[in-house]
Amino acid sequence: MSVAIRPARVEDVADMQEVINRYAAEDRMLERSRDFLLEHLRDFLIAEGTAEPPLSFLGCCALAVLTRDLAEVRSLAVRPEAGGRGIGRALVYACVAEARRLGVRRVFALTLVPEFFERCGFILTSLGRLPEKSAAECPVCPKRLGCDEHAMLLHLDGTTPLPLAVGEPVGYTRLFLGREPE
Ligand SMILES: CC(C)(COP(=O)(O)OP(=O)(O)OC[C@H]1O[C@@H](n2cnc3c(N)ncnc32)[C@H](O)[C@@H]1OP(=O)(O)O)[C@@H](O)C(=O)NCCC(=O)NCCS
Repeated sequence: MSVAIRPARVEDVADMQEVINRYAAEDRMLERSRDFLLEHLRDFLIAEGTAEPPLSFLGCCALAVLTRDLAEVRSLAVRPEAGGRGIGRALVYACVAEARRLGVRRVFALTLVPEFFERCGFILTSLGRLPEKSAAECPVCPKRLGCDEHAMLLHLDGTTPLPLAVGEPVGYTRLFLGREPE
């Protein structure tokens, strides 16, 4: 399959919402509203099949810059029927390339599929080491009482992030609320 990665456009929003919210209904990622997707449209990249017309939507991913030092890969979703063909990795690499272009030093993702991000070069760390995220957005996240997300980090300056210590909790609920996720 021939795939192109390009910036999102308004006509992609329905496809983005459909694939993201299908996985959200299975509790595999956060739901996104149409308004959220429109507001953050310039953060999103689209994977599109180019082999034969009509061009087909295969997946999407966003890079959100949180501070001058840190950006987040989020809302990564590949259509199930297009999975296992390197499209997720191509979207993550495109976000990482964009982070480099912008001059950001660290990129992270909060995810339930840490193995996938490891295959993309990220290292499992603790959400506690990302206070820019955990202090600002996690306390108002609808999943904060049931969070078991893994914090995956990539440094773009050639250094290696400190890995998760033995026994160190990964998700917000255990880490900051000191209890088991609901
Ligand atoms: C996770 C997801 C993005 C992977 O997309 P994909 O296009 O199927 O992944 P790729 O084909 O690019 O896989 C890249 C590598 O990761 C591995 N991988 C992919 N999904 C994996 C998973 N769920 N668990 C472990 N490894 C996985 C692949 O085997 C491949 O390994 P390789 O380096 O040996 O080739 C996709 O399954 C998805 O959209 N899932 C639901 C939503 C989700 O969980 N999003 C992440 C939220 S942060």
